[in-house]
Amino acid sequence: MHTLAIFFLVLPLCQGELFPVAARFILPGYRYPPGSPWPHPRVWGNTSELVTLNPSNFLLTSNTDCDVITGAIDRYRPLIFIDPDAVVSSDLVAIPSLTIQVLTDEHCTLFPQLDSDPDYEAYTLDIPSSGGAKVEAKTIWGALRGLETFSQLVWTLKDDNGNSFAVANVTKIEDKPRFPHRGILLDTARHFLTVETLKRNLDAMAYNKFNVFHWHLTDDQAFPYQSQVFPLLSEKGAYTQRHLFRQDDVREVMEYARLRGIRVIPEIDSPGHTHAMRKGHPELLTACYGDGVNPGTPDYPNHADREVLDPSKNSTYEFMKTLFQELKDLFQDKFLHLGMDEVKHACWESSPEIQNFMTENGIQDYSQLEQYYINRHVAMIQGLGSRYISYQDPIELGLDLGDALVQVWKDGELGGEFSSWQDYMMMVTGKGYQVIFSSCWYLNYISYGEDWRRYYECDPTNFPGTEEERSLVVGGEAAVWGEFVDGVNLEARLWPRASAVAERLWSDPVDVLGNTDDALFRIHQHRCRMLRFTSWFFWSFWFDEREVTNSNFAGEE
Ligand SMILES: *[C@@H]1O[C@H](CO)[C@@H](O)[C@H](O)[C@H]1NC(C)=O
Ligand SMILES: *[C@@H]1O[C@H](CO)[C@@H](O)[C@H](O)[C@H]1NC(C)=O
Ligand SMILES: *[C@@H]1O[C@H](CO)[C@@H](O)[C@H](O)[C@H]1NC(C)=O
Repeated sequence: MHTLAIFFLVLPLCQGELFPVAARFILPGYRYPPGSPWPHPRVWGNTSELVTLNPSNFLLTSNTDCDVITGAIDRYRPLIFIDPDAVVSSDLVAIPSLTIQVLTDEHCTLFPQLDSDPDYEAYTLDIPSSGGAKVEAKTIWGALRGLETFSQLVWTLKDDNGNSFAVANVTKIEDKPRFPHRGILLDTARHFLTVETLKRNLDAMAYNKFNVFHWHLTDDQAFPYQSQVFPLLSEKGAYTQRHLFRQDDVREVMEYARLRGIRVIPEIDSPGHTHAMRKGHPELLTACYGDGVNPGTPDYPNHADREVLDPSKNSTYEFMKTLFQELKDLFQDKFLHLGMDEVKHACWESSPEIQNFMTENGIQDYSQLEQYYINRHVAMIQGLGSRYISYQDPIELGLDLGDALVQVWKDGELGGEFSSWQDYMMMVTGKGYQVIFSSCWYLNYISYGEDWRRYYECDPTNFPGTEEERSLVVGGEAAVWGEFVDGVNLEARLWPRASAVAERLWSDPVDVLGNTDDALFRIHQHRCRMLRFTSWFFWSFWFDEREVTNSNFAGEE
């Protein structure tokens, strides 16, 4: 039902040429020819020489039998030859094959990771005027990106005979990402998202060369992750026992992601955003004294009955250690996301136990208490041999996050002490932290029209820091928080708006990309391509590919 809804909403726009909202305005941008890739490759040679592919004997091969590559070949062949009516052109030279060459397939047994090697996802793609085409990459992950690009170069040409052909321009592409961390944050706590929905999103991520799925698993509203060590968390904390991520569900998502070169980073947000954990494990959370007398009483809107972990008990840290050990073993990423945002102190302030603890330990104020929690939680995570990501919030209180990778999410509008995201970037990088940037890219906020332009124009290094401070940016994430988003509207809200973020994080040099008027023609193509790829079953019956022929672009110039 989800697929159908989106399909019918957007289909008409993909059947015609790209037209302005009013007939008398002329779109100013450069008319990219059909088969133009997204995100923009670093070096993209082009000629006007066309070659064709013959679906019946086109060979897609590789020098590795790694399942990431063989799986990708099986997946991409039907996407490349998606037009069921295409026949072979007699006028054009047919290239016989695409060969994928990796230098090493040593990553095949591993999940993708944050890697500082600039060639970790690099590839070259060579389509000569005769002979076979080639993708060459150092790693299987780079080869995946190259195959994705190749699939985007193939389009359908309608010639005078009315026939359609799968065609690619002769070209040579050299490409690698600008940032190693390019993510999408999905929230499965405010509303549950099914494994099917997550997989469809992973597909779309792969079409945009995103490589991190930041999984905000749990929050105040629900705890859908089924822990083996602490099953009560989800038994009591999930919406229902049908709205659960079992260990096998997680493994299924991770395998799907691995085959697409995407990391999955789990987040269990604490010490705040833990209200749902109180149902299975009330002892973990500070009992608030809302009426001044009884533990576990709310004082709305200052605090609930229990909503922040209890920093005063050793058992809290032991619990979290056991839980994170399980997450580390299951998710197998070097990084765990610890949350640490929006810790409200009102509940702690209401608790005589917390005040006694502070007096006994010489803790002067509630910020220091938060620091105490951070220190012990972080020491525990480091004890597991993991690295960790934290939202920026503790830094605003002047607290120390150790060697955290810090996710900057605030700007003037999202609240906080500063009026722009640049100020937050200055603050965090000024203290030497590496940064993941999200402030501009809260896609759960919606507005009418082409708001992707705003996301596209926001560059995470565009703040007045030193060269060294700007080099601390390791990437960014587009976030879709789940308060008003579930499986019905997630996809429509994310794509193609997140594609703008994808190009911002992948493409370099930045100055080729100054202009959203130009990008418009490519993002439009890309949107249609994604639609075709994700609903290819319907597409093969309904879609008429006239929109990607040259003739539609002629006359607009
Ligand atoms: C292709 O070549 C033309 C002419 O050199 C250039 O203007 C254009 O930007 C190039 N790239 C693409 C993607 O068309
Ligand atoms: C591909 O070839 C066509 C037909 O000659 C040409 O119009 C188009 O500009 C070429 N595409 C690129 C990216 O150069
Ligand atoms: C709690 O842990 C701290 C730090 O490891 C230790 O110093 C303290 O003795 C422990 N308290 C109890 C009651 O076990």
